[in-house]
Amino acid sequence: MSNKIDLNEIASEQLHEIDLNDVELKAVAPQMEPQRQYYYMAKAKKYVQELSAKLGRPLSFSTQTFGCQMNARDSEKLVGILEQIGYVEEQDEEKADFVIYNTCTVRENANLRVYGRLGQLNRIKRKNPHMMIALCGCMMQEPKVVEKLKKSYRFVDLIFGTHNIYKFAELIVNRIENERMTIDIWENTDKIVENLPSERKFAFKSGVNITFGCNNFCSYCIVPYVRGRERSRDPEAIISEIKRLVADGVVEVMLLGQNVNSYGKNLEHPITFAQLLQRIEQIEGLERIRFMTSHPKDLSDELIEVMRTSKKICKHLHLPVQSGSTRILKKMNRHYTKEGYLELVDKIRKAVPDLSLTTDIIVGFPGETEEDFLETMDVVKKVRYDSAFTFIYSKRTGTPAAAMEDQVPEDVVKDRFDRLLKEVQEISAEVCSVHTGTIQDVLVETVNDHDSSLVTGRMSNNILVHFPGDESLIGKIVNVKLNECKGFYYIGEMVES
Ligand code: 5AD
Ligand code: SF4
Repeated sequence: MSNKIDLNEIASEQLHEIDLNDVELKAVAPQMEPQRQYYYMAKAKKYVQELSAKLGRPLSFSTQTFGCQMNARDSEKLVGILEQIGYVEEQDEEKADFVIYNTCTVRENANLRVYGRLGQLNRIKRKNPHMMIALCGCMMQEPKVVEKLKKSYRFVDLIFGTHNIYKFAELIVNRIENERMTIDIWENTDKIVENLPSERKFAFKSGVNITFGCNNFCSYCIVPYVRGRERSRDPEAIISEIKRLVADGVVEVMLLGQNVNSYGKNLEHPITFAQLLQRIEQIEGLERIRFMTSHPKDLSDELIEVMRTSKKICKHLHLPVQSGSTRILKKMNRHYTKEGYLELVDKIRKAVPDLSLTTDIIVGFPGETEEDFLETMDVVKKVRYDSAFTFIYSKRTGTPAAAMEDQVPEDVVKDRFDRLLKEVQEISAEVCSVHTGTIQDVLVETVNDHDSSLVTGRMSNNILVHFPGDESLIGKIVNVKLNECKGFYYIGEMVES
């Protein structure tokens, strides 16, 4: 009788406890997920061990993540799988045996950066024949990108998209066994695979997906095409993941979704985002809850009430406005007006007075006139954001806006962008400084990059503060007096609680 493990007999929640070396590999791969992926992790691990024995050293990997927090979380899942398989992390990409780019395509320049870096990787790969290169993420969901890679970038080993990152181990095995470019892109999926490994970048905080995909189809945005239809995770799966994270030292979670406010609407037993937050609030040991991103059209009174009364939800709301012109907002398919947005902001501020508000703004959307732009400036002046991410409109093929007439000339956009940035920065420096002299709860994140006698922490409102301290404080929430505002951050000192 063999002592080997038959994965078909192991419950999903128990899989992380098994030793991959004990998995029965003579049997065919299980059909069920995530059991199937543990089978392929075991198989990949065997291949990695063999090559590593031949080379007399461990195999290493390096990941580059482009784009948003969603991608950052996806990369943690990729790293979780790589570490299970036996790869060790290498900071220097040029020395790594396996280089993975998790790409973004929300704006054109993100794509250009990937092509540029691929050129460099090709040179390095010629010197290191063991090197494998994988590309995944949003950019790979665009058929013309994959065509280009197939034609001109044959040295890439593995290409997959946003819907099947859970299959990473299986794809690695496929690549190793077939010794040629492996491409696996799915157009869409309704599947969410739970209980796979992931390796957190920070011990004390973690992103937690609550929805995948987007149904909003803002007319400039490629995300619904590359991330597919909106799917909400089962609340029980979210709660048990957070409980597990807390047991492992996490004190702050960031709930992630393209539009968290529409969470739960399509579940078999629908629940609202506000109700989910109330359940998460009950988790003992969890200190802080953040979430991103909120679409103004779906932000409910129920959510505002939960934010008002919560002890754990951070005093920060990211509420992308995109444009201040009602005319442009309509063309953007945003489903709110300038006035509606301003009223919403008023309502939230009345309920949660010390809330910090941040936003995203696009300049140069097709047909944007000087008057439209001044409406955006007006919203910025009225709301007085703590900070704002400003973007130059980027034409994404396949989106409705790409086919619109009146694309705004580059020099006009650049001029507007500069004026907007100046206004945003001046306001945010003023808004930031109002906390000077106060004492705030600060979660310590790192030792300061530039001065190792300082640590850097984050307040509930997301503003950073640097103050004297050492490594032992990382992951702790401490009281800090804010002595001096330096524009976007503070210098402070720790005080007794
Ligand atoms: N051009 C410029 N900015 C864009 N964004 C999304 N699509 C585009 C585009 N085509 C911005 C939006 C969004 C943020 C994540 O990226 O402001 O909120
Ligand atoms: Fe893009 Fe709009 Fe969906 Fe955000 S809500 S991901 S901007 S389509």
